[in-house]
Amino acid sequence: MEVIFDKERVQHIAGQTVDWMRSIQGTPHPMSAYVSGIINEWEKGGDPICRKAPHLVYTHLPINPYIDDRTDGTIGLSYLDVAAPAFGIGTCWAGFIRMAVDSYEPLRQALEIPEGRKMAYAMLFGYPKFKVNAIPRRNPLQVDWV
Ligand SMILES: Cc1cc2nc3c(=O)[nH]c(=O)nc-3n(C[C@H](O)[C@H](O)[C@H](O)COP(=O)(O)O)c2cc1C
Repeated sequence: MEVIFDKERVQHIAGQTVDWMRSIQGTPHPMSAYVSGIINEWEKGGDPICRKAPHLVYTHLPINPYIDDRTDGTIGLSYLDVAAPAFGIGTCWAGFIRMAVDSYEPLRQALEIPEGRKMAYAMLFGYPKFKVNAIPRRNPLQVDWV
Protein backbone atom coordinates (compact mmCIF):
# COMPACT_ATOMS: atom_id res chain seq x y z
CA MET A 1 0.00 0.00 0.00
CA GLU A 2 1.28 3.47 -0.86
CA VAL A 3 -0.04 6.75 0.53
CA ILE A 4 0.48 9.94 -1.43
CA PHE A 5 0.11 12.46 1.32
CA ASP A 6 1.11 15.65 -0.48
CA LYS A 7 -1.84 17.44 -2.10
CA GLU A 8 0.29 18.87 -4.92
CA ARG A 9 1.36 15.34 -5.88
CA VAL A 10 -2.28 14.24 -5.85
CA GLN A 11 -3.05 17.13 -8.21
CA HIS A 12 -0.15 16.14 -10.45
CA ILE A 13 -1.56 12.61 -10.61
CA ALA A 14 -4.98 14.04 -11.53
CA GLY A 15 -3.28 16.01 -14.33
CA GLN A 16 -1.53 12.89 -15.62
CA THR A 17 -4.88 11.10 -15.67
CA VAL A 18 -6.33 13.95 -17.73
CA ASP A 19 -3.34 13.63 -20.09
CA TRP A 20 -4.23 9.93 -20.50
CA MET A 21 -7.76 11.02 -21.41
CA ARG A 22 -6.35 13.40 -24.02
CA SER A 23 -4.29 10.50 -25.41
CA ILE A 24 -7.35 8.30 -26.00
CA GLN A 25 -9.48 10.99 -27.66
CA GLY A 26 -10.38 9.93 -31.18
CA THR A 27 -9.21 6.34 -30.61
CA PRO A 28 -11.41 3.21 -30.38
CA HIS A 29 -10.98 3.14 -26.57
CA PRO A 30 -14.43 2.59 -25.02
CA MET A 31 -14.00 5.72 -22.86
CA SER A 32 -12.97 8.02 -25.71
CA ALA A 33 -16.49 9.40 -26.26
CA TYR A 34 -16.84 10.39 -22.59
CA VAL A 35 -13.55 12.10 -21.84
CA SER A 36 -14.06 15.50 -23.51
CA GLY A 37 -16.46 16.71 -20.78
CA ILE A 38 -13.99 15.65 -18.08
CA ILE A 39 -11.09 17.36 -19.86
CA ASN A 40 -13.16 20.56 -20.23
CA GLU A 41 -14.00 20.59 -16.53
CA TRP A 42 -10.30 20.15 -15.67
CA GLU A 43 -9.32 22.97 -18.02
CA LYS A 44 -11.85 25.25 -16.31
CA GLY A 45 -10.14 24.64 -12.96
CA GLY A 46 -12.32 21.79 -11.70
CA ASP A 47 -11.01 18.43 -10.60
CA PRO A 48 -13.31 15.61 -11.70
CA ILE A 49 -10.46 13.11 -11.17
CA CYS A 50 -9.33 13.63 -7.58
CA ARG A 51 -12.07 16.02 -6.38
CA LYS A 52 -9.32 18.26 -4.92
CA ALA A 53 -8.81 15.65 -2.21
CA PRO A 54 -5.62 16.08 -0.17
CA HIS A 55 -4.50 12.45 -0.07
CA LEU A 56 -4.52 9.32 -2.19
CA VAL A 57 -3.93 5.72 -1.13
CA TYR A 58 -3.50 2.76 -3.42
CA THR A 59 -2.83 -0.93 -3.03
CA HIS A 60 -0.57 -2.89 -5.36
CA LEU A 61 0.14 -6.50 -6.21
CA PRO A 62 2.89 -8.44 -8.00
CA ILE A 63 2.58 -8.52 -11.80
CA ASN A 64 1.83 -12.13 -12.73
CA PRO A 65 1.59 -12.93 -16.46
CA TYR A 66 -0.86 -15.79 -15.82
CA ILE A 67 -3.17 -14.38 -13.14
CA ASP A 68 -4.65 -10.89 -13.13
CA ASP A 69 -6.72 -11.02 -9.96
CA ARG A 70 -6.62 -7.76 -8.00
CA THR A 71 -9.40 -8.66 -5.59
CA ASP A 72 -7.42 -8.78 -2.36
CA GLY A 73 -5.93 -5.32 -2.86
CA THR A 74 -9.41 -3.98 -3.53
CA ILE A 75 -10.87 -5.71 -0.47
CA GLY A 76 -8.21 -3.98 1.64
CA LEU A 77 -9.38 -0.59 0.42
CA SER A 78 -13.01 -1.57 1.00
CA TYR A 79 -12.19 -2.04 4.70
CA LEU A 80 -10.66 1.44 4.71
CA ASP A 81 -13.79 2.79 3.00
CA VAL A 82 -16.01 1.31 5.71
CA ALA A 83 -13.77 2.24 8.67
CA ALA A 84 -12.84 5.79 7.62
CA PRO A 85 -16.09 7.56 8.66
CA ALA A 86 -15.62 6.32 12.24
CA PHE A 87 -12.41 8.40 12.26
CA GLY A 88 -14.11 11.42 10.65
CA ILE A 89 -12.40 10.72 7.31
CA GLY A 90 -14.15 10.85 3.94
CA THR A 91 -13.19 8.59 1.02
CA CYS A 92 -13.88 8.33 -2.70
CA TRP A 93 -12.86 5.49 -5.02
CA ALA A 94 -10.49 6.85 -7.68
CA GLY A 95 -11.94 5.01 -10.65
CA PHE A 96 -10.42 7.22 -13.36
CA ILE A 97 -6.91 6.71 -12.04
CA ARG A 98 -7.49 2.96 -12.00
CA MET A 99 -8.80 3.08 -15.57
CA ALA A 100 -5.73 4.92 -16.81
CA VAL A 101 -2.86 3.48 -14.83
CA ASP A 102 -2.10 0.21 -16.62
CA SER A 103 -1.77 1.78 -20.04
CA TYR A 104 -0.21 5.17 -19.28
CA GLU A 105 3.43 5.05 -18.19
CA PRO A 106 3.67 8.74 -17.10
CA LEU A 107 0.88 8.05 -14.60
CA ARG A 108 2.62 4.90 -13.34
CA GLN A 109 5.73 7.01 -12.80
CA ALA A 110 3.83 9.82 -11.04
CA LEU A 111 2.35 7.22 -8.68
CA GLU A 112 5.79 5.64 -8.14
CA ILE A 113 4.33 2.14 -8.39
CA PRO A 114 7.07 -0.19 -7.15
CA GLU A 115 8.95 -2.20 -9.79
CA GLY A 116 7.21 -5.43 -10.83
CA ARG A 117 3.93 -4.43 -9.19
CA LYS A 118 0.55 -3.27 -10.49
CA MET A 119 -2.17 -1.17 -8.88
CA ALA A 120 -5.15 -3.00 -7.42
CA TYR A 121 -7.24 0.12 -6.80
CA ALA A 122 -6.89 3.70 -5.53
CA MET A 123 -8.88 5.76 -3.06
CA LEU A 124 -8.96 9.46 -2.25
CA PHE A 125 -9.30 10.50 1.35
CA GLY A 126 -9.29 13.48 3.67
CA TYR A 127 -11.34 15.31 6.24
CA PRO A 128 -14.63 16.02 4.47
CA LYS A 129 -15.57 19.54 3.46
CA PHE A 130 -19.30 18.80 3.65
CA LYS A 131 -21.36 17.17 6.36
CA VAL A 132 -23.73 14.45 5.22
CA ASN A 133 -27.07 14.86 6.94
CA ALA A 134 -28.93 11.99 5.32
CA ILE A 135 -27.98 8.81 3.53
CA PRO A 136 -28.54 9.33 -0.23
CA ARG A 137 -31.47 7.45 -1.73
CA ARG A 138 -30.47 4.16 -3.29
CA ASN A 139 -32.08 2.06 -5.97
CA PRO A 140 -33.55 -1.02 -4.31
CA LEU A 141 -31.18 -3.99 -4.28
CA GLN A 142 -32.12 -6.62 -6.82
CA VAL A 143 -31.48 -10.15 -5.64
CA ASP A 144 -32.19 -13.27 -7.66
CA TRP A 145 -32.58 -16.41 -5.58
CA VAL A 146 -31.48 -19.06 -8.08
C1 LIG B 1 -15.29 1.10 -8.42
C2 LIG B 1 -15.72 2.51 -8.15
C3 LIG B 1 -15.04 3.57 -8.77
C4 LIG B 1 -15.43 4.89 -8.53
N1 LIG B 1 -14.73 5.92 -9.09
C5 LIG B 1 -15.09 7.19 -8.81
C6 LIG B 1 -14.35 8.29 -9.34
O1 LIG B 1 -13.34 8.13 -10.07
N2 LIG B 1 -14.76 9.54 -9.03
C7 LIG B 1 -15.85 9.75 -8.21
O2 LIG B 1 -16.16 10.90 -7.94
N3 LIG B 1 -16.56 8.75 -7.70
C8 LIG B 1 -16.21 7.48 -7.97
N4 LIG B 1 -16.91 6.44 -7.44
C9 LIG B 1 -18.08 6.73 -6.57
C10 LIG B 1 -17.73 7.08 -5.12
O3 LIG B 1 -16.52 6.58 -4.66
C11 LIG B 1 -18.81 6.56 -4.16
O4 LIG B 1 -18.86 5.18 -4.23
C12 LIG B 1 -20.15 7.11 -4.50
O5 LIG B 1 -20.09 8.49 -4.49
C13 LIG B 1 -21.19 6.60 -3.45
O6 LIG B 1 -20.68 6.82 -2.18
P1 LIG B 1 -21.48 6.39 -0.89
O7 LIG B 1 -21.81 4.95 -1.06
O8 LIG B 1 -20.52 6.64 0.26
O9 LIG B 1 -22.66 7.29 -0.85
C14 LIG B 1 -16.55 5.13 -7.68
C15 LIG B 1 -17.22 4.08 -7.07
C16 LIG B 1 -16.82 2.79 -7.30
C17 LIG B 1 -17.57 1.67 -6.62
